[in-house]
Amino acid sequence: LQKEKTSGPLVGKKVVITAGGTVERIDPVRYISNDSSGKMGFALARAARAMGAEVTLIAARTDEAPPLDPAIHLVRVESAQDMYEAVMDRWTNCDIMVKAAAVADYRPRQSSESKIKKSGDTMTLELVKTTDILESLGKNKDKQFLIGFAAETGNAEFFARDKLIRKNLDLVVANDVAMEGAGFGTDTNIVKVYDAEGLVLDLPLASKDEVARRILRLAADRVAGALI
Ligand code: CTP
Ligand code: CA
Repeated sequence: LQKEKTSGPLVGKKVVITAGGTVERIDPVRYISNDSSGKMGFALARAARAMGAEVTLIAARTDEAPPLDPAIHLVRVESAQDMYEAVMDRWTNCDIMVKAAAVADYRPRQSSESKIKKSGDTMTLELVKTTDILESLGKNKDKQFLIGFAAETGNAEFFARDKLIRKNLDLVVANDVAMEGAGFGTDTNIVKVYDAEGLVLDLPLASKDEVARRILRLAADRVAGALI
């Protein structure tokens, strides 16, 4: 049996992390997804647990093995819609939510139950917008501390701060996924963290484990500060 972690800045806190890339089905053997590896989200889950939190990790498609620590509650999902439901179920009871997942912005309007057969020379796939999970959370925020990610290729600060305001986030983690050593699939990351006032953390090349610890330490400080 796992010993309860009784020390650390997140003891008694419920932390929910989303990770990986959502899978939007075209048919039983084909889908639309993205290059997210899930590494950043899994690192966040380990870091939150090491700081004493009660952790739920909601993971879409990922290359990562399930966490070894049985105290990290793993929930597997496939699509943006699945993730939306899994996240909403846990929102009221959550203290800190970190949305590291790469959620599809669009999904096929129809997904076929049987494998689509090849026919004409062209094929058109109609896509419809998914629900923006983060935006929905921001609209229904009570006491939860909400952290979003912004994966950008250029002008990261502008877009990230726009997302922070638009989605009513407490912090946004911006990473320029086009930079060497940052973004999808790598073991390292280069991030800048903003709140509504501006830059609060500037992390040059560091392991995703280190980036995760720094982000959660910042969140823990802010949550603790709010209680005083
Ligand atoms: N996100 C979400 N639900 C969606 C799309 C995105 O919850 N349907 C979340 C991601 O998990 C991430 C944040 O929103 O934490 C930013 O995702 P990103 O793709 O950078 O931003 P978008 O708002 O989707 O804008 P765009 O892709 O046009 O840059
Ligand atoms: Ca997007």
